[in-house]
Amino acid sequence: MALRVADIRYAYGKTVAVDGVSFDVRPGEIFGLLGPNGAGKTTTISIVSGILPPASGQALIFGQEASGGSGRARARMGVVPQDIALYEELSAAENLRFWGRLYGLSGAGLEDAVRRSLDLVGLADRATARVKTYSGGLKRRLNLAAGLVHAPDLLLLDEPTVGIDPQARLRILDVVRDQARSGRAVLYTSHYLEEAEQICSRLAIIDHGRVLAAGTVAELRRLVGEGPVVRVRGSIDGDGLKALAARCPGVSFLSADGDTASFAARDPDACSGLVRALFGSGLKLDDLRVKEPNLQSVFLKLTGRELRD
Ligand SMILES: Nc1ncnc2c1ncn2[C@@H]1O[C@H](COP(=O)(O)OP(=O)(O)OP(=O)(O)O)[C@@H](O)[C@H]1O
Ligand SMILES: [Mg+2]
Repeated sequence: MALRVADIRYAYGKTVAVDGVSFDVRPGEIFGLLGPNGAGKTTTISIVSGILPPASGQALIFGQEASGGSGRARARMGVVPQDIALYEELSAAENLRFWGRLYGLSGAGLEDAVRRSLDLVGLADRATARVKTYSGGLKRRLNLAAGLVHAPDLLLLDEPTVGIDPQARLRILDVVRDQARSGRAVLYTSHYLEEAEQICSRLAIIDHGRVLAAGTVAELRRLVGEGPVVRVRGSIDGDGLKALAARCPGVSFLSADGDTASFAARDPDACSGLVRALFGSGLKLDDLRVKEPNLQSVFLKLTGRELRD
């Protein structure tokens, strides 16, 4: 196992940030930690990377304790922080040299590592440009390269695509996939559901410092059933809709949030029964959509809330 996280807990004063989180990440796998703002993703990464000592529980990197210890665990992991950690006045290559040296690289080995990691993220031709001339997307790519410079076996990526355009995001996702393909273990946090569905082989949905559900995307989807999900928008009344769902065979109420509500239908028949009941109910609906179940519906079911981008 590349990473074993066992029942870790952490509180900032009275704020409980991580409340008994456990999961494993295997070599060659991208494991996602998916959760809204404040769910405890960064705190979990900080514990795994040894920056914060857990109040209880442990994180083992290839069998070695992450916090304290000999530093051997640390040498095998690369961390890409949510807040970009780059020197604006230095060039891309100089930034990578800085990180490479911290990981004990020097001489020709360091220069090779810098070149290789710039290549990986497609920045070889901008190696000598100062970071302050980079766009947000380029900075995110360089931030990723800084975590890869020492060719770590375990990558901890904390929202590596936040705030960038779709093209830059695809580029980063490709690099992450390639890293996993070459056998590295990746822990990937995100609050973008589509991203997690695209690249994670398994994932855990977390909220308020707890894992609400974990498994493959297919396993998680099964939590809301294989059938379609119906979402309505309009002037809705949660209790009324719950009662309406209870009267429709094969339909379960998922959630109501503001002016939207969702239902899971067992199969297309159950779905059309629900749609008829909705139109027959006299409710004023502005919109009705039928969708395949996805992680968004899983999240809705587990938390009663939407996970917004
Ligand atoms: N340095 C800190 N001091 C006090 N409270 C903190 C600190 N860092 C995080 N918290 C709180 O701990 C909880 C978990 O925060 P954390 O940053 O781990 O969540 P997150 O899932 O990474 O959120 P985001 O998506 O916003 O990055 C939140 O309630 C947050 O307000
Ligand atoms: Mg965070």
